[in-house]
Amino acid sequence: MTELTRLCALDDIDPEAGLRVDVGELRIALVRIDDDVYAIGDRCSHADVSLADGEVDVDDCAIECPKHGSLFSLTTGEPLSMPAVRPVPVYSIEVVGPDVMLRPAAADQAPDVPAQESS
Ligand code: FES
Repeated sequence: MTELTRLCALDDIDPEAGLRVDVGELRIALVRIDDDVYAIGDRCSHADVSLADGEVDVDDCAIECPKHGSLFSLTTGEPLSMPAVRPVPVYSIEVVGPDVMLRPAAADQAPDVPAQESS
């Protein structure tokens, strides 16, 4: 993939909430905080749960897994609290006019890390 890929309209992302978008094999959680948009792997690294359904922690710039509560940094993908111990991917995006676009380099990343456990 060598071109920007449109993920959604900026207005599709509610402020301080997650939005899941699927692009090929990538499952991405988009989060908008003020004028900034973050993109991390949507699948929690602890189990196959959508992080986009979690609560956004604006102060820590993170999102909380809705199943067991691990907090994931929106800037690094690292878990900030247990039980998850592995990071989720971080994707490079760009806002172009009204649209949120995935940068090509990001599209070449591995789709997701497998979950730690199946529960
Ligand atoms: S499934 Fe996300 S912390 Fe357990």
